[in-house]
Amino acid sequence: MIIRPERHLDPNAPCWCKSGLPYKSCHAHFDEILKNMRRMGATIPPRSIIKNKSQIEGIRKSAKVNIAVLDYVAEHIRAGITTEQIDRWVYDITTAAGAIPAPLHYEGYPKSVCTSVNEVVCHGIPSKTEVLKEGDIINVDCSTILNGYFSDSSRMFIIGETTPEKKKLVQDVYDCVQAGLEQVKPYGFLGDVGQVINDMAKANGYQVVREIGGHGCGLEFHEEPFVSYVSRRGTEMVMAPGMVFTIEPMINMGTHRIYTDPVNNWTVYTEDHKPSAQWEIQVLVTETGHEVLSW
Ligand code: MF3
Ligand code: CO
Repeated sequence: MIIRPERHLDPNAPCWCKSGLPYKSCHAHFDEILKNMRRMGATIPPRSIIKNKSQIEGIRKSAKVNIAVLDYVAEHIRAGITTEQIDRWVYDITTAAGAIPAPLHYEGYPKSVCTSVNEVVCHGIPSKTEVLKEGDIINVDCSTILNGYFSDSSRMFIIGETTPEKKKLVQDVYDCVQAGLEQVKPYGFLGDVGQVINDMAKANGYQVVREIGGHGCGLEFHEEPFVSYVSRRGTEMVMAPGMVFTIEPMINMGTHRIYTDPVNNWTVYTEDHKPSAQWEIQVLVTETGHEVLSW
C-alpha cells in the first residue's frame, strides 16, 4: 500500500495565490478551514478561482467601466429607440474607456450587449427593427473586459408606464437578488443564496429558470462555479474569500420552462410567452462578508 503524503506548503514559501506573501500569513488558515469542510463532505472551490488582491483590483476597475455603461443606458433608454441603439451606446462607451464588450464575438455572438424584452428570458440580440415601446420591460446585460479582467452585470428598465404585474415582477426580482446577496459570506454555501431566491420567487407566485444561472467571473467571462437558483441551503460549493461570482436569477411570471430561438440559436424565451425578469450583480466574497463589484 502506498500512502501519499499530504503535500504541505513550506510555511515560509510564497503563497499559491501569487500574492508574494509567505504561505503562513496568506492562505494557510484558509486552506485549513476548507480542508476540514471537505472532510465533512462539502464541495470546496478550486484554487484557480480564488483571486488575490491585485486581481481583485483589476476586476474592480473593469467593474467601474461596466457600471458606467449601464448608468449611461439608464439615463438614455426610452420609448422609440431600437435595441440596436443600446448596442451602439454600449460599444461606444466601453471602447472609449479602453475596454472591450465581452459578448462581442463570444462563441459567435454578434453584438456587444444582450437586450431581453418582455418574454425574452436572456440573450436577446439587439436589432434595428426592434423598437422599445411604452410598457415594455427590458433587461440590458453588459459584460466588460478591461486589461484582461471581466465584469458582468445587468439591470431591468421599465419603458414609461407598465402594468402593475410587470412592475411588481421587476421589483420582486430585484428584491430576490438583494436577499440572495445577504447570504454571501465566507464559508457559507452557494445553496444558501439559491434557496432564499427560490423561496422568495415562489412566495410571489413565480418560477425560477433552472437551466441557466450565475457563474464565476473575473479572470474569465464564465468560470466555475455554476450558480443555481433552484438549489438548497447547505448544498453546492462553499463560498470562500477571494471568490467572485454573479447572482443573476431569471424569474418567470408563469412557467419556468424555456426554449431557445431555433433561428439565431441564442435568444431564450419563456415557453408560455409570459414575462421574465432578471437582475445581475457581480459579488466578491470577503473575509467578513461580501462586496458588490458591479450592478
Ligand atoms: N452576460 C451574460 C451572462 O451573464 C452572458 C451573455 S453571453 C453572450 O453570463 F454571448 F450572449 F453575451
Ligand atoms: Co453573467
